[in-house]
Amino acid sequence: MSATIKLEKKHFPVLLDELVSIISPLYSGTFIDCTFGNGGYSKEILKNKQNKVIAIDRDIDAIEVAKILKIKYNKQFNFHHLKFSEVHKIEKIGDDLKGIIFDLGFSSIQVRDPNKGMSFYNQGKLDMRMGLNKTSADEAINNLSYSELNNIFKFLGEEKKGKSISKAIINERKKKLINTPDLVKIVDYAKNFKRGKTHNSTQVFQALRIYVNKEIHELIYGLINSFRILPIGGIIAVITFHSIEDKIVKFFFKHYSENKNSSRYLPNIKKKELLFRLPHKKFLLPTVDEIKKNPSSRSAKLRYATKINNNKNFQDFLKKFQYLLDIEKMKGKYV
Ligand SMILES: C[S@@+](CC[C@H](N)C(=O)[O-])C[C@H]1O[C@@H](n2cnc3c(N)ncnc32)[C@H](O)[C@@H]1O
Repeated sequence: MSATIKLEKKHFPVLLDELVSIISPLYSGTFIDCTFGNGGYSKEILKNKQNKVIAIDRDIDAIEVAKILKIKYNKQFNFHHLKFSEVHKIEKIGDDLKGIIFDLGFSSIQVRDPNKGMSFYNQGKLDMRMGLNKTSADEAINNLSYSELNNIFKFLGEEKKGKSISKAIINERKKKLINTPDLVKIVDYAKNFKRGKTHNSTQVFQALRIYVNKEIHELIYGLINSFRILPIGGIIAVITFHSIEDKIVKFFFKHYSENKNSSRYLPNIKKKELLFRLPHKKFLLPTVDEIKKNPSSRSAKLRYATKINNNKNFQDFLKKFQYLLDIEKMKGKYV
């Protein structure tokens, strides 16, 4: 028997039935799957012969999956190895674009791949790059300053022990380069080895992954540029997995779909042109059955909105999350 451990190539697409129920009324058109991964959503949409899918993924490994779909679906399917913040750069989308879909974060296949250095169970170097990016988590953790690390853990991970973790990292790296088990040990120590519902390192690893992949920039410009290429009547649907992503998507849809004053004592605000119509149910969650079958779906949330107007100005949106974009730009000693 071969000693090589084969990576399990299985990833359950999250909230698939719910997503189909939202987009299927628009079938007979083109859909952009911004987070192709193992192709779970694309395959489902392509079952309808009247649909076309343009798929995007930044991970080079997605190209192999896409090749198989290309053979099966030919002109119905195209793939671009691209970051979704650049969705507007795709040529020849056609004028029947009906929906743009995001299933954010990473897939279970990626997290199980030791070469990607994403999991806290890995033994080697930290990496966390999804693709089409330079800086790895290894460079970040070994070069960023105390205050940069602290900001990353606090704002991109909502980690309460960020200060003591950052201090311990700075001390430890005077002795050696910090790898995955070192970081896990530092976090465990800062949390007195207490075990909660989730792994102690979840938030620190989330923060580093967001920083390394510039996920805030990706999401914000992914949404803005999707809006720009989508015709009126089209849908943007986003599945988020943590509160920072969800906060951004919620603001984008809500802020541009209502003209409400934050207080009734304030003078009436100048009415802005509304860009979206929101559904009655603000978001959809996985069923108990889905969570049982696929526990990692438990934190998923699906939000969507229909475009009703064109607009070129997203200053409010950019201003609101500028502090997160600034954190992602921090560079430490490496350039
Ligand atoms: C949760 S998985 C998607 C799984 C997919 N829906 C399926 O059913 O197999 C997220 C995928 O999006 C990709 N991704 C994440 N951020 C991206 C970005 N900014 N641009 C392009 N692809 C991205 C990841 O590489 C990963 O393959």
